[in-house]
Amino acid sequence: MGKLWAGLSSGNISKIADDFNSSIKFDKRLYKEDITGSIAHAHMLSKCGIITKTDADTLVNGLLNILQDLESGALKIDETAEDIHTFVEETLTSRVGAVGKKLHTARSRNDQVALDFRLYILKETKAIQSAIKALVNTIADKAEEYKDAVCAGYTHLQRAQPITFGHHLMAYAFMLIRDYDRLNDAIKRISVSPIGSCALAGTTYNTDRAAEAAELGLSRVCENSIDGVSDRDFVAEFISCCALLQTHLSRFAEEIILWTSWEFKFVSLSSEFTTGSSIMPQKRNSDMAELVRGKTGRVFGDLTGILTVLKGLPLAYNKDMQEDKELAFDAADTVKACLAVFAPMVATMTVHRENMKAAAQKGFINATDLADYLTKKGEPFRSAYKICGEIVGYCIDNGKTLETVSLETYKTFSDLFEEDLFSSIDIENCVNKRISAGGTSVASVEKQISVARAFLNNK
Ligand code: ARG
Repeated sequence: MGKLWAGLSSGNISKIADDFNSSIKFDKRLYKEDITGSIAHAHMLSKCGIITKTDADTLVNGLLNILQDLESGALKIDETAEDIHTFVEETLTSRVGAVGKKLHTARSRNDQVALDFRLYILKETKAIQSAIKALVNTIADKAEEYKDAVCAGYTHLQRAQPITFGHHLMAYAFMLIRDYDRLNDAIKRISVSPIGSCALAGTTYNTDRAAEAAELGLSRVCENSIDGVSDRDFVAEFISCCALLQTHLSRFAEEIILWTSWEFKFVSLSSEFTTGSSIMPQKRNSDMAELVRGKTGRVFGDLTGILTVLKGLPLAYNKDMQEDKELAFDAADTVKACLAVFAPMVATMTVHRENMKAAAQKGFINATDLADYLTKKGEPFRSAYKICGEIVGYCIDNGKTLETVSLETYKTFSDLFEEDLFSSIDIENCVNKRISAGGTSVASVEKQISVARAFLNNK
């Protein structure tokens, strides 16, 4: 194919350079956004009297036919073309004749690619947001089911205090809600139209950038044409949102991997979401969760990639910027794939309440409540803490738990101990006394679930 830009530059590029330069193998994904953007451009050109209404109609119909033929498969994308923008324009001109050459009036590929990419990222952002909602919904359902399932809460991966499994799950729901909100905030900066910036300096034609942006559903136009064609921070911001979201999924995945181990046995994943081993018949591996954890590394790589591409670039457009696409595509594809597998994996997992509770009873996780008991009876907290530490030591030496020490023995540590100490260290009571906002009691967790549900209903 001859080059659209054959002018002073001969267009006689070597095959090896042409292949190296071409981006169509990956930017063909932007075909719809490219065509939609061009239709809005043709409309604007005609409304502003830059081309005739008849020419605009020809262009728009031609573009719509290309879109239809691409979607039906009647038209195949020519992978020898330089990029999706040249492919669409050349196909249009070959179909509608010379009028096709008027489409590129008052624009450049520099603002065109920036526009197409913004429209695409906007679409992906919204798709990721709805997948986040689906996962939050699944988590809220599971949390409801296990809002009274007592388990150990950990710090330093050591048993710390009794909590409910529902409480633990809801922690992830709120991380994901923030991820959703972060994407919402990013939309404010993605939904900005660069079209009309042209190559970098704007144009001598009397264009209406605001009308073109409005037709495309974008909220406003960029204020500076040089920034318009140079800015890829919307890409970095999008990938950064993806990276943080992946971080949350990866922590959750890591816990699922731990919980499904024989050592924990808190959770079993459905056989639909596990794999076996080719040699060890007893194995049920949490491959999906491991892959989510592993793929998080790719998304971090995408983020590092875009930041590194941008950091040394002089203004305005440089071809380096063509490297932005695969990074963003990879981040979006990875996040969508991880969210898609995560929600049904969580929805179908079996939670072993009894195992969780049994583990919770072993680690002296009610020791804080024992100290609080003494404090409420008048012992200053620091000395209560010390006494309880000694009782835990006694239990370890004598193979006991706090529940199995006799009242007589308790009294040898402090005469403030009475029979009611046993109800205050009962694991379920320990949980249900934590009624502070955001706490682990069933009532507090119910409140958290209703906040998450309100989020799901409002967006
Ligand atoms: N394929 C190019 C990209 O993705 C389109 C913009 C080309 N602009 C240019 N001045 N060569 O960046």
